[in-house]
Amino acid sequence: MAGETAVGIHDLSFATTEFVLPHTALADHNGTDIGKYHLGIGQRSMSVPGADEDIVTMGAAAAAPIIARHGFDRIRTVVLATESSIDQAKSAGVYVHSLLGLPSATRVVELKQACYGATAALQFAIGLVHRDPAQQVLVVASDISKYDLESPGEATQGAAAAAMLVGSDPALLRVEEPSGLFTADVMDFWRPNYRDAALVDGQESITAYLQAVECTWKDYTERGGRALDAFSAFCYHQPFTKMAYKAHRGLLNSCGYDTDEAEIARAIGRTTAYNAVLGNSYTASVYLGLASLLDGADDLAGQCVGLLSYGSGSVAEFFAGTVVPGYRDHLRTAGHREAIDRRKPVDYARYRELHEHSFPTDGGDHPTPSETTGPFRLAGLRGHKRVYEER
Ligand code: COA
Repeated sequence: MAGETAVGIHDLSFATTEFVLPHTALADHNGTDIGKYHLGIGQRSMSVPGADEDIVTMGAAAAAPIIARHGFDRIRTVVLATESSIDQAKSAGVYVHSLLGLPSATRVVELKQACYGATAALQFAIGLVHRDPAQQVLVVASDISKYDLESPGEATQGAAAAAMLVGSDPALLRVEEPSGLFTADVMDFWRPNYRDAALVDGQESITAYLQAVECTWKDYTERGGRALDAFSAFCYHQPFTKMAYKAHRGLLNSCGYDTDEAEIARAIGRTTAYNAVLGNSYTASVYLGLASLLDGADDLAGQCVGLLSYGSGSVAEFFAGTVVPGYRDHLRTAGHREAIDRRKPVDYARYRELHEHSFPTDGGDHPTPSETTGPFRLAGLRGHKRVYEER
């Protein structure tokens, strides 16, 4: 709106795990035709955390370059969004705040609504910045996607954290009003407190996601949002990259447009590169889609991008952002490629061992093997307390 402070994403950085499992190894193990993974769901590999990695180490690793570039003088709030929470009471954001050395005069909180939480965090951050444009908010979306071995969801697993600095006069993306919103009480994906792997009704989740796309768009349009042809690209939440294609096809259909596959590929294609090799990162996924688009596309300066955030259960939001001229000078493309390329491939047996790793719950001293090389590690569990180390 004319005269209003522009607020949005000033910096965006992601981190992932030490290890990676190629889908060829999973297909060799379970006898699945690799075409189902590479083409059917659109996944090439999944990030696999070591025993000394978790949402805190990934979240801090994603945010550290942002703090290194901008300092923390303007950051008064840290919001960490996750589905794979490590504690029922204490925010994982407090550990991240500590590892980053942020000042004590900061508010820190954790948000949860499956894969949607980071978008709530972004919108809350925007509200805070409008209240005081001198302040910035650090939003961290960090998740490890975990399903039972041999379940249909297994092939969509992954892990990553996206960190965003939200502020006035952003260098990357100006986030616009209105948002289209949708909530429905559905049991498509959930994780009771006693489980560390999610439960999912896969086909139900696809149906619920597609309904959420249609309903958020309807609400967005009724609130005076842009026309469909005003958008250069669409970043969808990507539980698996083919879902973005299904979602966009559904949106075009619901608006009465032809589903021209070349047009869908043009609108979506640049957003899937990171998710295809990292796997599902729940809250971070849609923002990895944005990073992939900004890092990979030709100049998008001044163009409008649509973002669709979906969190099973379910809550969804559609909103638009305008790419800021000069944004390319602020990207972290090399760092992002490095985060992907530095991962060490593991075979199926090693992946399985890491997948099944869990800490004893006896309150004893349980150090983790030092097997990762990132800037932060989970040193172990001591007296029921997680102990982190900086390298
Ligand atoms: N070559 C190419 N494509 C193949 C194939 C092959 N050999 N074999 C299967 N496929 C295609 C199928 O046609 C299907 O494509 P379509 O959806 O466009 O029809 C796709 O691969 C998946 O096959 P499907 O039989 O549906 O897989 P599945 O029963 O193992 O379930 C999910 C897939 C996504 C439902 C499952 O991985 C899951 O539960 N994921 C977790 C939940 C999730 O991601 N939900 C999304 C919304 S949040």
